Amino acid sequence: MSAEGPTPVILKLGGSAITIKNRPLTLDKRAINRLAGEIKQADMDSLVIVHGGGSFGHWVAEKYDITDGYKEESQILGFSKTHQAMTLLNKQVVDSLISRSIPAVAISPASMIATKSGRINIMEERPLRNLLELGFTPVLYGDAVSDTQTGFNILSGDQLVVQLAIRLDAERILIGADVDGLYDADPKTSQSARLISHITLPQLMKLQEEIAKPSTMDVTGGMFGKVLELLPVLDLGVQVIIANAREPGTIYKALKGETVGTLIEKGEQTETLY
Ligand code: IPE
Repeated sequence: MSAEGPTPVILKLGGSAITIKNRPLTLDKRAINRLAGEIKQADMDSLVIVHGGGSFGHWVAEKYDITDGYKEESQILGFSKTHQAMTLLNKQVVDSLISRSIPAVAISPASMIATKSGRINIMEERPLRNLLELGFTPVLYGDAVSDTQTGFNILSGDQLVVQLAIRLDAERILIGADVDGLYDADPKTSQSARLISHITLPQLMKLQEEIAKPSTMDVTGGMFGKVLELLPVLDLGVQVIIANAREPGTIYKALKGETVGTLIEKGEQTETLY
């Protein structure tokens, strides 16, 4: 508990859980509405939501080549279009939450954050914190933001949740993905891949050494890269849960603290992984 009230939970809804991944600018309205229902049902005291880009942000950012900073003037309009695509997706998420009487408020990361060479450098979270303390549910997203070194940059929702967790003193980060959690190998290609149900920071570092070998890069099907982004917050004692947002009921359970997916926490000693 912080002095101001209940400690918030930060929920990331991955872009692949709320959009149709391989169809440009296509919402998964059913998934968005179902997730809004699960969030309503969970009736959280203090919740911040961050959603990803999926077939909105990523598609436009790639089309206009704005992922590696400013190179030429033609990218400028692409930056606008990427940010705008994210605000459209955000509007759908916020509309769906409000229609269930959740007091959601859209907060644009581009207006409160600047990165420096891709990492969050300037961030003004006080208005957000005030709203949160009043009982609002701020809804942010991975966004196209300005960068003091490279001009602009794509800020991932994963980097954002970490900063929010640190600055808002969060107790838990919940990552709603399109897979069941973190695996010890890529479940799409390896039959022996096993879902890790609980992993501590030391075990995670060991796993990183094993899977970072060039021949086995990305063996967990991309989820491991996301997890590495979360290391600073794990070290502070924040729990991270990765759960499948595509599976109905799972985000509800995770919000309520039930065991789902993969729990990652600081931990001291070796415990069982599965
Ligand atoms: C990306 O956010 C935002 C943009 C491309 C503008 P994320 O990187 O968090 O999105 P997902 O969850 O991987 O789709």
